[in-house]
Amino acid sequence: MHRARLSIDPAFTVGPVRRETFGSFVEHLGRCVYTGIYEPGHPEADERGFRRDVIDLVRELGVSTVRYPGGNFVSGYRWEDGVGPQHERPKRLDLAWHSLETNAFGLNEFVEWTRASGTEPMLAVNLGTRGTQEALDLLEYANGAEPTALVELRRSHGQEQPHDIRWWCLGNEMDGPWQIGHKTAHEYGRIARETAHGMRMIDPGLVLVACGSSSSGMPTFGEWERVVLTEAFDEVDLISAHAYYREGDDLPSFLASAVDMDHFIRSVSATADAVAAERKSTKRIDISFDEWNVWYHEEEDPAIVTGGAWPEAPRMEEDTYTVADAVVVGGLLVSLLRNTDRVRGASLAQLVNAIAPIRTEPGGHAWRQTTFHPFALTARHAAGEVLRVAIDSDRTTTNRFGEVDLVDAVATYDAATSSTTFFVVNRATDGETAVEVDLGRLGGSATLVEAVTFSSDDHQWRASAEDSHSVLPERNGSAVVADGALRVTLPAVSWTMIRLTAGDR
Ligand code: AHR
Repeated sequence: MHRARLSIDPAFTVGPVRRETFGSFVEHLGRCVYTGIYEPGHPEADERGFRRDVIDLVRELGVSTVRYPGGNFVSGYRWEDGVGPQHERPKRLDLAWHSLETNAFGLNEFVEWTRASGTEPMLAVNLGTRGTQEALDLLEYANGAEPTALVELRRSHGQEQPHDIRWWCLGNEMDGPWQIGHKTAHEYGRIARETAHGMRMIDPGLVLVACGSSSSGMPTFGEWERVVLTEAFDEVDLISAHAYYREGDDLPSFLASAVDMDHFIRSVSATADAVAAERKSTKRIDISFDEWNVWYHEEEDPAIVTGGAWPEAPRMEEDTYTVADAVVVGGLLVSLLRNTDRVRGASLAQLVNAIAPIRTEPGGHAWRQTTFHPFALTARHAAGEVLRVAIDSDRTTTNRFGEVDLVDAVATYDAATSSTTFFVVNRATDGETAVEVDLGRLGGSATLVEAVTFSSDDHQWRASAEDSHSVLPERNGSAVVADGALRVTLPAVSWTMIRLTAGDR
């Protein structure tokens, strides 16, 4: 039996639990939009074509913001194609995903869908093939209230009220050679600054996100952030981070993916702080972690996936996730919460079908993947303040990160309900771990509300259209609170949530 001991002190807070940490992402990629969230004629579709079964799952998942419309897609996108009468909208080649874009779904449908799903839109502008003027036009069309030509155009499209979109991404992954309109850091930093400057002239209160590196493995990582922020520091609020993980043949390293995410966040924060220091500025640039997930990327070239054809809404990047993948997703949420002082928002990439916790069949039903469960439970129960957790754990050796703790955890304390919630990952692949949590500093008596664990003897188990129920989060009967401590046994390769009501602080 492995061992770990966790301690918290309610005075040692990291920062607030931000609802924006539980954002997601809808890109025109594969079947995320078409036959994902939008399928006119489906038995569950409403009069606008929005699948109600998917909306129900999105609400259950607890998603806050939803980034749209890309991703790589946005770097070749003309937003005007997606507004106005649907029968007049042009079909276009989507070069990013080698697909045919019908434009039946666009900005106004998306905003209506966010209202229907109880989420908040986060929009990306095209700084690949387009520039500042088109971004300003889009902002004016979307959010304008004065009777300008663009606002009247929106009104003529049946959208009387401004959309009031607050979060805007200044392009997508512009450091990536695969991106249409790929730029050097200087080129991108300059267009980001100019575009942000114009957008702020329309509305100074927007949250503007500059593109950071598309991964920490990029050869330009670090230098890209430094140069972009040196150019655009005064105009932007946040810099983006993107990270995807996969199991490969090294399960221990995969289970420790949060070690990499922690390091990534620290590196980008340090670079942003160095730029601030150089400018003698007290302004702090934080992070929008607006793409993260487990992703078994099929092919670098999407034309290989489509066989050279240009299909509408092809089956693409439809990862079917294992229990181990879900444990890693839960672990990455631990990292995002632990870094809540620097991570202002995050987007699980993506929401439906493509790299997603929700899957659908065209004309058929929608179901939860394994990764749905840790996300939904964390989004529902993380509340109040994030607490620092001191971890004293047995260690394990990984190929990628060397020695790491077997157990990783974060805790939140919600004064409104006097509840403390732990989110704990057991990275052990070879047996159970006995965890003891010192509750002494919580004050008063703590009571166990629930402990649920997501795991399976077969950690390669996957949900499917036929069976998405055989492995679900289950009550962990080993959890007990006694003598000022919580004791719980965690199975190998598992994610656990433990909720307590605390005594007085
Ligand atoms: O989320 C899938 C793709 O990953 C996005 O389009 C792109 O931004 C990233 O490379």
